Amino acid sequence: MTVNPHQTAAARYVALIPAAGSGSRMGAAAPKQYAPLAGRPLIEHAVHRLCAHPRIDAVFVVLAPGDAQFNRCDWRGCEAKLSALYCGGETRAASVFNGLLAANDAIDANDWVLVHDAARPCLGVQEIDRLIAEVGDSEVGGLLAVPVADTLKRASAEREAVQTEGRDHLWRAQTPQMFRYRVLIEALRRADIAAVTDESSAVEQTGARPRLVQGSATNFKVTYPEDLALAELILGKAGQ
Ligand code: C5P
Repeated sequence: MTVNPHQTAAARYVALIPAAGSGSRMGAAAPKQYAPLAGRPLIEHAVHRLCAHPRIDAVFVVLAPGDAQFNRCDWRGCEAKLSALYCGGETRAASVFNGLLAANDAIDANDWVLVHDAARPCLGVQEIDRLIAEVGDSEVGGLLAVPVADTLKRASAEREAVQTEGRDHLWRAQTPQMFRYRVLIEALRRADIAAVTDESSAVEQTGARPRLVQGSATNFKVTYPEDLALAELILGKAGQ
C-alpha cells in the first residue's frame, strides 16, 4: 500500500487571522478591527467563533507591532487556543506571510491553515464545517466563495458603463481560505507579495487550482461604516 504523505491522520486545523490593517476606508481613528459591533470589538467575533470550533486546535492573530488594544479585549474562553503575533506587515499578504513564519514552530508542514479576515465577523459554523468537509481531503486546499449574482459593468475613467461582462464562472472570494502550511508559505514566498490580495491568488500562481466552496452572503467583509449596521442585524438574527 502506498502512503499519501499529504493525508496523514495527524494533520491539524489551525486558524490565522490577519488583523494588522489600519482600516482607513472606515474613516475612524481606531483600526476597524476594534470598531464596536454588537457590544464588543469587531475582532472578538471572528476570534471567538474560530476558538470555539471543535476541529480547530489553535488560533493565531497577526497584529501590528505597536498594537495596544488586543490585550484589552475579552478573550475569556479562548485561552487554550489563542496566540497573538505582533508581526503585521505593510499589506494583508505580508501580515499573513509574517504570521506563518512566526508560528512555524507550532504548525507542522502538513497542517491545514485557515486564514480568516478579522473584518468578517459573521462567519457561520456551517461554513467552517463545509470548508473542512470539502477541502480536508484535497492536496492543495480551497476557499469559501459565492457566485457572482449581479450584472457586471466595465466602466470608463468617467464612470460610464462601457461594456457588460459575462458573469458565468465568476465567484467572489471570501475567507477562510484553507491551505496546507507548506503549500501556503511556499506560494507566498514565491509570489509578488504586493500583488497578492488573497491566499488563493498566491497558490494559483504556482499552477495549483484551489477548490471553491459555497460560502454565504452573510460572511461579508466589514469595510465601510454602514457595514457595521448590517453585521449587527445578521449577528442579532443569528442570536449572538
Ligand atoms: O483592509 P482589508 O479589509 O482588505 O483587510 C482585510 C484583513 O487583513 C483585515 O482583517 C485587516 O486587519 C488585515 N490586514 C493586515 N495587515 C495589513 C492590512 C490588512 O493584517 N497590512
